[in-house]
Amino acid sequence: MQELVISPSILSLDYAHVSEQLKELDESGAKWLHFDVMDGHFVPNLTFGPDICKGFSQAVDMVMDVHLMVTDPWLISNLFIKANADLITFHLEAVKDMEDALALCKHIRAQGVMAGISVKPNTSAEALLPYLDQMDLVLVMSVEPGFGGQSFKSEVLEKVRLLRAEIEARGLNTRIEIDGGINDETAKAAIAAGCDTLVAGSYVFKHNIKAAVDALLCLKQ
Ligand code: DX5
Ligand code: ZN
Repeated sequence: MQELVISPSILSLDYAHVSEQLKELDESGAKWLHFDVMDGHFVPNLTFGPDICKGFSQAVDMVMDVHLMVTDPWLISNLFIKANADLITFHLEAVKDMEDALALCKHIRAQGVMAGISVKPNTSAEALLPYLDQMDLVLVMSVEPGFGGQSFKSEVLEKVRLLRAEIEARGLNTRIEIDGGINDETAKAAIAAGCDTLVAGSYVFKHNIKAAVDALLCLKQ
């Protein structure tokens, strides 16, 4: 398995103290920063556009991990590619079919950006299995996308085990990221099931950022 990475979700950032929080994040053990991009259509919530990604990318030395919860990932991915995204993950539920998903991965990767595909809790990951070599990451949602602070759905770990078995059997280095309801307890179960990348919003920002990231990093196997 790859090195454990923590990706704090800026959905839970304290926007009254942005520069202090970015400094704390940059000085923590978190190597990635997770952007939950919501368009008010794919999910019933609205967040931020590419300028935030561009600005934050100049303020911290972290991997810009962009999670698109949008109806038109072809359009929005181009905006974030121009805004210094390092990884763009879109939803399988937002594209026409697997062929369209693979074409979008190819388009993103052709511009030197990593590509990921996300599945909601009730979407099977089976369709991804033959094509795991064509993406850099699979994002398994452990809550319904849209809002931070929800409880972890442990039934999605079955999907994680399936993906991990396939990745190991084929000797791939595709990452498995989990998103939603991660804390020091649920993270343990997620890592045991095969996740190597943990998104955490409320858990990180409700505590001291560095201490919370360290507590998650300690769980590595
Ligand atoms: C939900 C988002 C998550 C969310 C995680 O749509 O994709 O990234 O911010 O937040 P917590 O860790 O609070 O569940
Ligand atoms: Zn997310």
